[in-house]
Amino acid sequence: MRMRKLPWAEEYIAQADVIIKDQTKNKGKWKQMFGCTSLHVEIGCGKGDYLLHMSEKDLESGWIGIEKDSNVMAIAARKYDQQEQHGCNIAFLLGDALALKEWFAQGEIDVLHLNFSDPWPKKRAHKKRLSHASFIEIYREVISETGEIQMKTDNASLFEFSLLQFQEGGWYLHDISVDFRRNVHDEDAISEYEQRFMNLGQPIYRAVWKKTPYINTDKKKR
Ligand SMILES: C[S@@+](CC[C@H](N)C(=O)[O-])C[C@H]1O[C@@H](n2cnc3c(N)ncnc32)[C@H](O)[C@@H]1O
Repeated sequence: MRMRKLPWAEEYIAQADVIIKDQTKNKGKWKQMFGCTSLHVEIGCGKGDYLLHMSEKDLESGWIGIEKDSNVMAIAARKYDQQEQHGCNIAFLLGDALALKEWFAQGEIDVLHLNFSDPWPKKRAHKKRLSHASFIEIYREVISETGEIQMKTDNASLFEFSLLQFQEGGWYLHDISVDFRRNVHDEDAISEYEQRFMNLGQPIYRAVWKKTPYINTDKKKR
């Protein structure tokens, strides 16, 4: 269901420093801007819970949240502003992920996160799914050779669709779980939607795809 337009959203966005207004100005320089060696991007970050928590957990990486809905973007920025401590390893971009190649240089992103993307159940709307082949082609350009995509969802049908789309796109399935929160995963924050589904007792599906085959560099002999 669409959220009613928040009367304060536009004004809030205009003055929020954490939202980078010119999305193209740091193309190729995001890591330099954050002073980090690893760049994470969440597409469809919603109200920002995942990104805000992960940027606190992992101070060594840069964290960018992309969101096309100005209402939820404004809420995410306000949450950031209300935090007691303001990390400088986080930024938000307001806009559609279709423009990813205008904002990021080739191979610039190390980890791309898709958390509880809209399921778009009707077949004619499948092209809007963030794991549709057309998006996956865009991701291939901006993700580094050793990079990966991490996806979580409550939606079995979207999960099946995504597994096939990534396979057809030539990605390597590196990890998969049909009940990710069955075990404790302190390394990974719980997103806003994830918390809702966990409260309903629904299992969380998760998969990780690598751009190139995973090479085990652990040389220890058994
Ligand atoms: C169901 S919400 C999930 C929010 C958050 N990731 C979470 O797990 O709580 C999906 C979000 O993705 C955003 N979204 C969908 N398609 C997008 C696109 N092409 N570019 C940017 N954001 C998108 C929607 O506006 C919505 O806020």
